[in-house]
Amino acid sequence: MWKKVVPLMLAATIVAGEALAQNEPYWPQAPADGGPAHPAIDSHSTLVDKWNSGDLGLDQMRQLGLSVFSTPFNTYDGFGDGPFDPTETDPRAFGMRPTLQGNGLVLRVNGLDAQSCNECHTIVKSSTRPPTLGIGGVGGMVQQAIIMPTMIDVGDSSDDRTQYEANHDPDLPLTFDGTADFSGRFANPPFLFGGGGVELLAKEMTADLQDALHLAEASPAGTVVDLDTHGVSFGTLESLGGGSVDFSGVEGISHDLVVRPFGRKGENFSMRDFDRGAMQFHFGIQPVEVIGAGVDGDGDGVSDEVTIGEMTALHFFDVANPRPAKARVRGKTDKDDDDAGTALFDNLGCAGCHMPVLTTQVPSVPLAYPEVPAEPFSNVYAWVDLVEADFDRAPGAGVLVPLFSDLKRHDMGPALAETLEPSSAPLEIPNTHFVTARLWGVADTAPYLHDGRAATLYQAIWYHGGEAETARDAFIDGLSTADQRLLLRFLGRLRTPNRPNEELLPLP
Ligand code: HEC
Ligand code: HEC
Repeated sequence: MWKKVVPLMLAATIVAGEALAQNEPYWPQAPADGGPAHPAIDSHSTLVDKWNSGDLGLDQMRQLGLSVFSTPFNTYDGFGDGPFDPTETDPRAFGMRPTLQGNGLVLRVNGLDAQSCNECHTIVKSSTRPPTLGIGGVGGMVQQAIIMPTMIDVGDSSDDRTQYEANHDPDLPLTFDGTADFSGRFANPPFLFGGGGVELLAKEMTADLQDALHLAEASPAGTVVDLDTHGVSFGTLESLGGGSVDFSGVEGISHDLVVRPFGRKGENFSMRDFDRGAMQFHFGIQPVEVIGAGVDGDGDGVSDEVTIGEMTALHFFDVANPRPAKARVRGKTDKDDDDAGTALFDNLGCAGCHMPVLTTQVPSVPLAYPEVPAEPFSNVYAWVDLVEADFDRAPGAGVLVPLFSDLKRHDMGPALAETLEPSSAPLEIPNTHFVTARLWGVADTAPYLHDGRAATLYQAIWYHGGEAETARDAFIDGLSTADQRLLLRFLGRLRTPNRPNEELLPLP
């Protein structure tokens, strides 16, 4: 049935030259199919009421979120980009992507690449044999996302250039050179562990930087304001008077001064912010909070594909993911080695970017809806206590986040650069810039770097360049093999959580 009906419907659509009427099912539907894979859950406001009254505890919220995270969505849930819209001109737009042979569902090279979140965030420890699979982990190479590619020269036959051009340029060599020229982004999936601590830090840092911005705007011309927060410096602002500010001294962050720790490039200010894009990119599932209630944005006959309540539950799951931890030191020799490894990490300058611990001001991460990037404490509907996600209390009121990152973006040099082609305006985040990878858990998460190009920790360091070149050279060229081993052994203690999120199973 499936195979026969779909081409006929497509043919009819193409002949008519217009998209299907709104809310007409695009794929064949039959009672025998059983409907959506994800059961309906309470609305956002009901969830919040139940949370506030104590009817729903943190683990029950996490279970609802894990259900969203782990369900393989189907077409009744709104999976897929739906029918091709002949009026659309941007083949990268969500809901408008061309699909494999026009099937409306599968693409793989620009999203439409999986049915559930956990299909990619799968590997809890790649260091065990076999790798330990579980909930919320990293992805291996096969789970990497290929983002907005315009050319993948797998045949090694194109001109030696990264931008697709239809015809061969006679001035360029047309020979096999072993380089599959590529334009786009290729990203290895990080884990979700400890995400709540990262999100809380980012929100507190953003609030501080916004205060600094307002101070600079209100100050007389020539006043220089430091952008220091939580021990991290994002450079300086200089007041130009009359409310204007010179941003040329700002480092490692966009000029809106919103800290965005999520995504390899540092593009998302909260996990929910990331998830909105993930739903659309991977599944062609359109969140109500993006396209509105009752709207069938991709014309597949399904509206309200993922509700505000489902995204809220997912956000609870995200931020309460247990944090990675350092393996215990056993015995005196072990302790001496660990101290020596820590000292090397510091002295070589690794810790300048991979800052071992940042401390929050409060112990709970605020969840907001709607989210306002520059006002992280607006519209807060819940606070999630991070001590319940395994974080240790800090001497003040906050918690310790042993993340090994400064949450800043850095120029990592041309060798690590991506090849995303700017469409018209220059890229907001240059191809050589990445947010400092958080090293907690790094012993268990090979392969490394944004595109998984490093199979070992040594290789990950070897690929550092740009702002990290001095530290890299000090490690690669300046250390004896014995000292290199000490530093790698220190990194080898940074472990992912054991059996993360398994206490939530089975789901109700
Ligand atoms: C096809 C594989 C794939 C699927 C499916 C997938 N992800 Fe991811 N995820 C990735 C990759 C790759 C990245 C890194 C992306 C980047 O750097 O821009 C990522 C990053 C993330 C991050 C940011 C983590 C960080 O620390 O920076 C979050 C949060 C996340 N994913 C949640 C989800 C959720 C929720 C879903 C389901 C709606 C999902 N992912 C589905 C591959 C996947
Ligand atoms: C200028 C800032 C900076 C310095 C200094 C620096 N790094 Fe990094 N490091 C980064 C960034 C940014 C990434 C992510 C690069 C990417 O994804 O391609 C990274 C990635 C890594 C990774 C891979 C992590 C993963 O999960 O993929 C390791 C391991 C690492 N660094 C170790 C080190 C060590 C050891 C040193 C000192 C010798 C060091 N770094 C110095 C910024 C820095």
